[in-house]
Amino acid sequence: MKASENKATLSFSNGGQNVELPIYKGTLGPDVIDIRKLYAQTGMFTYDPGFMSTASCESAITYIDGDKGELLYRGYPIEQLATNCDFLETCHLLLYGELPDQGKKTSFTKLVTNHTMVNEQMQFFLRGFRRDAHPMAIMTGLVGALSAFYHDSTDINNPKHREIAAIRLIAKMPTLVAMAYKYTVGQPYMYPKNDLSYAGNFLHMMFATPCEEYKVSPVLERALDRIFILHADHEQNASTSTVRLCGSSGTNPFAAIAAGVACLWGPAHGGANEAALNMLYDIQKAGGVDKIGEFIKQVKDKNSNVKLMGFGHRVYKNYDPRAKLMQETCKEVLGELGLENDPLFKLAMALEKIALEDEYFVSRKLYPNVDFYSGIVQRAIGIPVPLFTAVFALARTVGWIAQLNEMIGDPDYKIGRPRQLFEGSVKRDVKPIAQR
Ligand code: SDX
Repeated sequence: MKASENKATLSFSNGGQNVELPIYKGTLGPDVIDIRKLYAQTGMFTYDPGFMSTASCESAITYIDGDKGELLYRGYPIEQLATNCDFLETCHLLLYGELPDQGKKTSFTKLVTNHTMVNEQMQFFLRGFRRDAHPMAIMTGLVGALSAFYHDSTDINNPKHREIAAIRLIAKMPTLVAMAYKYTVGQPYMYPKNDLSYAGNFLHMMFATPCEEYKVSPVLERALDRIFILHADHEQNASTSTVRLCGSSGTNPFAAIAAGVACLWGPAHGGANEAALNMLYDIQKAGGVDKIGEFIKQVKDKNSNVKLMGFGHRVYKNYDPRAKLMQETCKEVLGELGLENDPLFKLAMALEKIALEDEYFVSRKLYPNVDFYSGIVQRAIGIPVPLFTAVFALARTVGWIAQLNEMIGDPDYKIGRPRQLFEGSVKRDVKPIAQR
């Protein structure tokens, strides 16, 4: 960042001393006011629950223009990456800052491929869960447990450890998600196959059985690879901020990513894809398109606590570019599978059309986000609804680890420790119990 010519001057109505604060400019997006010295100079904190106006860090990885509906990974528009690259090229870009040439792509792919197996002991963690455990409960446990197996790469301050931990996490997430799925359906785990692509290998570990050859569908493989690209990173969202804060204590990368998995599970965040599909099922069960009006009425009724899942975003006040690409992928996959008349897809498009013409949504700049269509295409691929957020976590792992490594790689980073506005009891003395 570079200091900008103008400064911010804080003045106080109670006659307190004015305070001058530096303003910094990034390469894109809003300038920032540096308040790091504010407490020392004024004895006051800033107050911003939900971080509506707070930049928690500087980063060079992902940039979102919420008004334009633009998403860049290291400067490349998501639309170009989703059509011209595959997920592992995108991983290389997010981790190292550049798209790989053919030689680098080959060696990076080989490196990831050679780390897709997990320690055989991992399967015994799964046995502790009920068969109907939610896959995100299993993933939160398994990802954290990885730290028990890789003592040679848990020193987050060692760049070599950081790099091998990143490769291990990117490589093993598909294996773990597939194991979580196989456990819930009572089928044997399938080992990774090194001759398959990253997405093809995931499909194989998910849907193959030891009883017969499994053929990876190129259409589903490409669709899944694109889903991974669209979910790979997204600035300082809740789970990425969780990973940064958790990692700032110097804990190992596996534990920090497990914290990200736990945060992503929430329905306001990555859990929205599962919630959006269940919402469509509920509307369909209630009567389908004819019941959309009634549902929208419920959403507008504040007391109903019903939200249009897959709609709205803290940053996008325009159409989420990923939702557009996801809708296109939906059309392609459903068309290829002869499901172009899929009632749920038609219901989703009807719901979107009605919402985008309704003043309630228009006035609040609520548009479909990445989660609105992702469930429909994952369902068409055969992924069960409870696994949608685990697939999101699989794809977001590269973003989490790239952001974590960027923070730890900055020699000035400090442990994150926010303060508070205290509104509890002032100091008082404990009375003997007889007098309480
Ligand atoms: C992801 O941050 C990221 O980048 C996240 C993500 C990523 O890639 O990491 O993009 C992934 O999490 C996408 C978001 C998935 N969540 C959902 O689809 C759940 C439904 N959406 C909402 O919960 C909400 O839109 C949020 C949480 C996404 C954003 O919430 P904000 O920014 O805190 O906005 P808000 O709740 O203050 O909403 C502003 C107004 C409110 O109404 P009023 O109080 O002004 O009357 O809009 C309303 C909200 O009630 N509103 C909605 C709504 N979202 C917001 N009303 C109905 N349905 C919705 N979905």
